[in-house]
Amino acid sequence: RIAGPSGLVIFGVTGDLSRKKLMPAVYDLANRGLLPPGFSLVGFARREWEDQDFAQVVHDAVKQYARTPFREEVWQQLSEGFRFVQGDFDDDAAFGNLRETMESLDKERGTGGNFAFYLSVPPKFFPTVLEQLKEHGLSDSHGHGWRRAVIEKPFGHDLESARELNKLVHEVFEPNEVFRIDHYLGKETVQNILALRFGNTIFEPLWNRSYVDHVQITMAEDIGIGGRAGYYDGIGAARDVIQNHLLQLLALTAMEEPTSFHPKALVAEKLKVLNAVRLPDDLGEHTVRGQYAAGWQGGELVPGYLEEEGIDPESVTDTYAALKLEINTRRWAGVPFYLRTGKRLGRRVTEIAVVFQKPPHSPFDAMETQELGANALVIRVQPDEGVTIRFGSKVPGTSMEIRDVTMDFAYGESFTESSPEAYERLILDVLLGDANLFPRHQEVERSWEILDPVEEFWASSGRPESYTSGTWGPAAADEMLARDGRSWRRP
Ligand code: BG6
Repeated sequence: RIAGPSGLVIFGVTGDLSRKKLMPAVYDLANRGLLPPGFSLVGFARREWEDQDFAQVVHDAVKQYARTPFREEVWQQLSEGFRFVQGDFDDDAAFGNLRETMESLDKERGTGGNFAFYLSVPPKFFPTVLEQLKEHGLSDSHGHGWRRAVIEKPFGHDLESARELNKLVHEVFEPNEVFRIDHYLGKETVQNILALRFGNTIFEPLWNRSYVDHVQITMAEDIGIGGRAGYYDGIGAARDVIQNHLLQLLALTAMEEPTSFHPKALVAEKLKVLNAVRLPDDLGEHTVRGQYAAGWQGGELVPGYLEEEGIDPESVTDTYAALKLEINTRRWAGVPFYLRTGKRLGRRVTEIAVVFQKPPHSPFDAMETQELGANALVIRVQPDEGVTIRFGSKVPGTSMEIRDVTMDFAYGESFTESSPEAYERLILDVLLGDANLFPRHQEVERSWEILDPVEEFWASSGRPESYTSGTWGPAAADEMLARDGRSWRRP
């Protein structure tokens, strides 16, 4: 899978995402030999840069963030295809320059008219950039190559705004030319969910309401909001993470087997299961939101959310969100899916835990049997990538005492191949036109439809509960599971 002749135009190229993820990913792809020799990278931004300044910034970003070692000959060839176009997004002359730049790249580097436009810009600029691409005839290849649009989240902030955004995008690009980034789908461990489930026989027979007690999907971060106040305040954890990453993880965990590994087949199954997701009736009992307060984390005293720079001191934005969902299908009826995410939690970890029912009875002498944890299969998405199965085992000795043990698969031990960074995989797929790892607009809209009632409920229910940084979130989250006779895992 090597990309054919092509180029990538990044709008908002001076931003953080571009520097930390996109530029290094392009270099890593080139270094792995997955880009065509004439690959071209065009940066578009307001900054008064020349091509050399742009190349220098990419160089520094690559040195700091690339996964693969720096190789001068790869860099030389790649950087010959770097161009910078200076201008505002509403600047017609700049889009004229962009057009000329793309035409000259076609001639000089043989990009064949194939260009992807990466909108790494705040959503308020989406309409302008899209309109300009259309006005200047750039969104249409006029029969010479292909044109694609890559959009970063947030895809709106509720169902209505997501619908508007999708409508707007589809006025400029055909649905199959639009690639919406959910970088979780670019992660190896996330793609492995389908391999684990449908490339094996031992898991699927148990993967249903007859054996599964509940599922916990956790995405915990130790970091705070850093320099992202402008984006985060007013958005919060549920919109930032549950609407996209966690609902995608839920869909992959709960969906039926697709008829093929083709985007249409995959979307059909994901959508089917998302359509079957139901919120519990009592949102007060089954949802929790929290906001971090100052505390000790990693040996350091960190400020609370309200003390962070750029945050409204009265802000009611959630930095922690947990909720219970049900899935109304024959496979899952009655099995709760608990989702939680938060910033400034105990440690950075993302995992999906499928927790099985306890044995219906125990033949072992109660006196000698410890209280056993339930069997569980844990997909460790990050950082310690792998899969763990937890089960009971006899403790060596003269009595029949049973204790929980684990069986682990670790990527690092089983594979010598290194995992590409999510953005590497996703950029390559855009250039190849492979849409498998990109949520479709129907999924995005359905996910908002699931979340909207929760956000509405929260909007009328006071402040989020405060939790100390470095802990596992608000007490109400523990109480939420305790009411169901369960508890959160401490990864
Ligand atoms: C992003 C969120 O989508 O994912 C961030 O906007 C979050 O708030 C990030 O920090 C986490 O990504 P990862 O890959 O580090 O888990």
